[in-house]
Amino acid sequence: MKLPCSLLYSLWFLLLLGAGSLLLLVRLQDLTEVVLLQTPGVNVQVAPRWPVEQDDVTDSDATAGQTPDQLKVPESLLVLEDSVVSKPPVTKRQRKLLLKSPNPSGAPAGREEEARLHKLGTTQALRRRLLAEVCSKYQPGVGEQLVSQRQVSRVYVEDRSHLLYCEVPKVGCSNWKRVLMVLGGGATSTRDIPHDAAHYANHLRRLESYDRAGIAERLLSYTKVLFVREPFERLVSAFRDKFESPNSYYHPVFGRPIISRYRANATRAALRTGAGVTFREFVQYLLDVRRPVGMDIHWEPVSQLCNPCLLRYNFIGKFESLKEEADFLLQSVGAPQNLTFPDFKDRNPRAERTSSRITQKYFSQLNATERQKAFDFYYMDYLMFNYPKPFKDLH
Ligand SMILES: *[C@@H]1O[C@H](CO)[C@@H](O)[C@H](O)[C@H]1NC(C)=O
Ligand SMILES: *[C@@H]1O[C@H](CO)[C@@H](O)[C@H](O)[C@H]1NC(C)=O
Ligand SMILES: *[C@@H]1O[C@H](CO)[C@@H](O)[C@H](O)[C@H]1NC(C)=O
Repeated sequence: MKLPCSLLYSLWFLLLLGAGSLLLLVRLQDLTEVVLLQTPGVNVQVAPRWPVEQDDVTDSDATAGQTPDQLKVPESLLVLEDSVVSKPPVTKRQRKLLLKSPNPSGAPAGREEEARLHKLGTTQALRRRLLAEVCSKYQPGVGEQLVSQRQVSRVYVEDRSHLLYCEVPKVGCSNWKRVLMVLGGGATSTRDIPHDAAHYANHLRRLESYDRAGIAERLLSYTKVLFVREPFERLVSAFRDKFESPNSYYHPVFGRPIISRYRANATRAALRTGAGVTFREFVQYLLDVRRPVGMDIHWEPVSQLCNPCLLRYNFIGKFESLKEEADFLLQSVGAPQNLTFPDFKDRNPRAERTSSRITQKYFSQLNATERQKAFDFYYMDYLMFNYPKPFKDLH
């Protein structure tokens, strides 16, 4: 009896993304014309815009226990997501069926599971709403702009399950690529895919490689997925990965210029190899308006990598609850039951995973001014994805 769980998931997902998708489909016809008429890019303006709420919109945890109408939802949004928050996810008849039918583990697919899915779904609605508010306040008009190929260059396509995934390094992206490869039929199990194959094999196609109509159609009808992580933690994770163990690219290309610019009295060996960059030197490079070497996707803010105001992701997952949210998404898009999100740690498998404790330790090497500047650097990511200030003295 595999029906109940997947039915529950699919119904939820339809309700959660459905309202948006309906609009998308309606606009798709107009879009074909837009694409033909407008050569520089594609127009993906699809959802209504709504007024900025001044109140803090908090994430699901903080709002647990509140009923949706206590959340002061802007009116136009209520129209869009009314079905999400107020109607039961299934009809009475379906609910009876669900409660009667045992799920694969033998336990009834009961209220607890339904509540869990409801919470995951509500969390998504809240994250999308917060992002839309931040976007309309800080990047007004961006959602109506045309999309260029460069702006979707980090987005991967999975055509069989109609997914678009924006790759954010240090947020489980190797495992996401494995999952996409299995979904696309390129592999039967995520276990069979070694790290390098996940990263360098050409099984996965990027959205930018399609023509304009192909890009537009997918942006409008596919589920657009983004996974994010606490910005300072992601930064420390990137630093540890690229600078604390031998690396034949990052040491010469980034390490050398960083040491030569920011270290007084550097040894000849350090200048030659680029090994041994300290976190403080790395942050000095990051915050330098005249960086001796350019940006890199591992530490570029998500707000720039994935253009969230422009692309309007349907699903915004968080690394802090990666497995549960990824599995929710997979079930929702009808992935095979035996495909769950893997837990491989590819980079430096013996090193401890970067946690908030480790992050604090690295940031203690910086003075207050540097911490503030680093926070300013990732400020949009903090706002858009509702992460709290990581240090009390930041403003
Ligand atoms: C999942 O099931 C499919 C067919 O139902 C099978 O081909 C595949 O090997 C299974 N994958 C795993 C990881 O068990
Ligand atoms: C660098 O070396 C010079 C000469 O040996 C010394 O006077 C200076 O204090 C050193 N600077 C640092 C930052 O160690
Ligand atoms: C913090 O460090 C920077 C160098 O990165 C320095 O210019 C600044 O004066 C320091 N600020 C304080 C408050 O110590």
